[in-house]
Amino acid sequence: MTVYTLGIESSCDDTAAAVLRNDVLLSNVTAGQDVHKNFGGVVPELASRAHQQNIIPVIETAIQKANISKNQLSAVAFTRGPGLLGSLLVGISFAKSLALGLNIPLIAVDHLQAHILAHFIRNEELSNPIPHFPFLCLTVSGGHTQIVQVNSRFNMEILGQTIDDAAGEAFDKAAKIMGLPYPGGPMVDNLAAAGDPHKYSFAKPAIPGLDFSFSGLKTSILYFLRDRLKEDDQFIEMNKADLCASVQRTIVGILIDKLKLASAQTGIREIAIAGGVSANSGLRKALLNGRDQYGWNVFIPAIQFSTDNAAMIGITGYFKFLNGDFSDQTVVPYARSTF
Ligand code: KG4
Ligand code: ZN
Repeated sequence: MTVYTLGIESSCDDTAAAVLRNDVLLSNVTAGQDVHKNFGGVVPELASRAHQQNIIPVIETAIQKANISKNQLSAVAFTRGPGLLGSLLVGISFAKSLALGLNIPLIAVDHLQAHILAHFIRNEELSNPIPHFPFLCLTVSGGHTQIVQVNSRFNMEILGQTIDDAAGEAFDKAAKIMGLPYPGGPMVDNLAAAGDPHKYSFAKPAIPGLDFSFSGLKTSILYFLRDRLKEDDQFIEMNKADLCASVQRTIVGILIDKLKLASAQTGIREIAIAGGVSANSGLRKALLNGRDQYGWNVFIPAIQFSTDNAAMIGITGYFKFLNGDFSDQTVVPYARSTF
């Protein structure tokens, strides 16, 4: 059986569509939204409008690039949540209409499950290894930080999560304090490449177990810089690379310490990362170190499947299609994950 799945992602500030033939990715299109740059963060109302503007061209392009006609689609999968409600509604409404018009199944996908299942996308250009169950996945994005034990495709257990800010938020807030534009994560990563990661030390949180906390780090950076700027108003400018490298080392250290603990507690050494922050070069390097030091089998997604994308919605939709797990036309978005 050949299943063509259209995946639609619109949970935050990327409008994305992808087409898969079974588990093989045929096209993956994303339209970002520059409109938020001037505001230092995503403005929900502007995001909804930009989705409304972009959704039809993005989906048309994805179908065209896949070299199929829309009548060949077997199912439409969309992000149900978590995310911004106004953004989600654009994707959901479009998915409902298309599924109704083509008389094909409509499939609701959880964005966080999708980040994890992105590891199962097959791509003719990339032959990435696929994790074996059970594996641990560190899901780190702008809104979430979780360690998930993945027992099977749809049996996932959250072992620990952040009690305040997400790891991506920690990168973005640190960047903002240093005067870098939103989203700061990728910029901190770039600048860190030329810096000394051991130049500065910031307080690490003392949270027991597998939960995370990042709000103290933000305060620690803020107070440190406030004191230094009193002595030298050029301090940030003159030390940007070292500051970024030190911030990155601290955040990555917090993440890896918890992964080590989760691996020791569960005995699982299949370790994956997912979500926007899994694009971070420091985290990727630290995971490879874990492979060498602790004998982990590591799974690092290609950059295009780390940050928000529709290919991950498509693969999750395909797996749900195989299970006959369909939604009806009354399905509504949710702001928080329920798995
Ligand atoms: O998964 P994602 O694209 O969207 C959400 O679902 O939130 O994650 C976005 C987050 C942002 O906080 C962004 O700054 C961060 O991922 N990010 C990075 C890097 N690339 C994206 N953080 C650190 N280093 C990167 N290279
Ligand atoms: Zn995401």
